[in-house]
Amino acid sequence: MNIVVIVPTYNERDNIAELLAQLQTVFGRLDHDMQVLVVDDNSPDGTQQVVRAQQTAMPNLHMICGDKAGLGAAYIRGMRHALDVLRADVVFEMDADFSHKPDDIPRLLHAIEDGADFVIGSRYVSGGSIPREWGVLRRLNSLFGNIVARFLAGIYSVRDCTAGFRAIRSGLLAQIDLSALRVQGYAFQIALLYEAVLRGARIVEVPVEFVERTRGDSKLGVSDIVEFLQSALWLRFRSSATFIKFALVGASGVVVNLGAFALLLGLGVNKFIASPIAIELSIIWNFLFNNYWTFRWRKSRDRTRIKGLKFNAVSFASLAVSYVTFVALSLAFPDVAPHWHQLAGIVPAALINYFLNSYWTFRHDPQA
Ligand code: GDD
Ligand code: MN
Repeated sequence: MNIVVIVPTYNERDNIAELLAQLQTVFGRLDHDMQVLVVDDNSPDGTQQVVRAQQTAMPNLHMICGDKAGLGAAYIRGMRHALDVLRADVVFEMDADFSHKPDDIPRLLHAIEDGADFVIGSRYVSGGSIPREWGVLRRLNSLFGNIVARFLAGIYSVRDCTAGFRAIRSGLLAQIDLSALRVQGYAFQIALLYEAVLRGARIVEVPVEFVERTRGDSKLGVSDIVEFLQSALWLRFRSSATFIKFALVGASGVVVNLGAFALLLGLGVNKFIASPIAIELSIIWNFLFNNYWTFRWRKSRDRTRIKGLKFNAVSFASLAVSYVTFVALSLAFPDVAPHWHQLAGIVPAALINYFLNSYWTFRHDPQA
């Protein structure tokens, strides 16, 4: 495979030469085409000169330069270059300050070889760690960042959402519109991870020890924290918007169901025949609105007809759940009015309905 390790730099003169040397040593132990891409934002400290001086001895060392626009902007430029020009199969994200150990690269790569699409050098899985010397504030900041990412942005399944040490398959990256991420700074990390989760990427966390830098300074600033919070809120909104649309469609379906039922009764149809017809009409109604509105952007290999059948199956499953809840509550609380049992059944049914349809019927298939 062709592997490109992207290293963004801003004033890393005192780290970059040693890092590049260590990378070459590690690369020597690997059976892949290994390249490095430094993305420097015209560092005033002369980082570029140091890199250029090494390029003659290292033909696999590339560099692109630009004005300072933030860590995320640098990664976006770097990833495009790695995909389009260097033809990478796998792209690494890595800091220049030795917080990420070059010796850990083979372990991350192993996870890719084992089939992962997105590998995270994780500080928050068992075996991973943050520096012992980190003060309370720094610890809280990192912890808080991950809590925001997991529970506000909704990336629950990942422990270390803000990590900047990653290996990503280019096939996955190519599906993501990087310019649509709308992030400049460190928020890039959660924005990209969110897109990967959304596309059903196989995400693996490999434990790493995060080492505090000994030379130079961290560039994380207040504006990065503000952008990070904004970004997490925006991601939350995006996830909720889908659920809200789904709920609205469901509510309109109730109206269709009852309206059709009343209409059929008015036409003299027997109520035992009118009922299932009205139910099926509302299911079809819900399906069409979810297909052409709620989940419109999700691509699928299935024909609309197949999705309709799946939607119907899910509707019957949620009917069963709703009925089982009704029966269970009726038996458990016989003194409570049955309307409450019936109402309570809607909650688990709606959730199951949403999750099955979101992850099965309207599952996004980027290759479709
Ligand atoms: N080109 C470019 N432009 N590089 C930048 C910029 C920028 O605006 N800002 C930072 N970098 C480079 C740094 O030179 C370094 O190589 C790397 O990005 C990480 O920057 P640090 O300033 O050392 O970040 P940190 O140690 O505070 O944060 C690390 O941990 C965070 C999670 O706790 C990084 O790995 C972050 O990505 C991560 O979110
Ligand atoms: Mn750092």
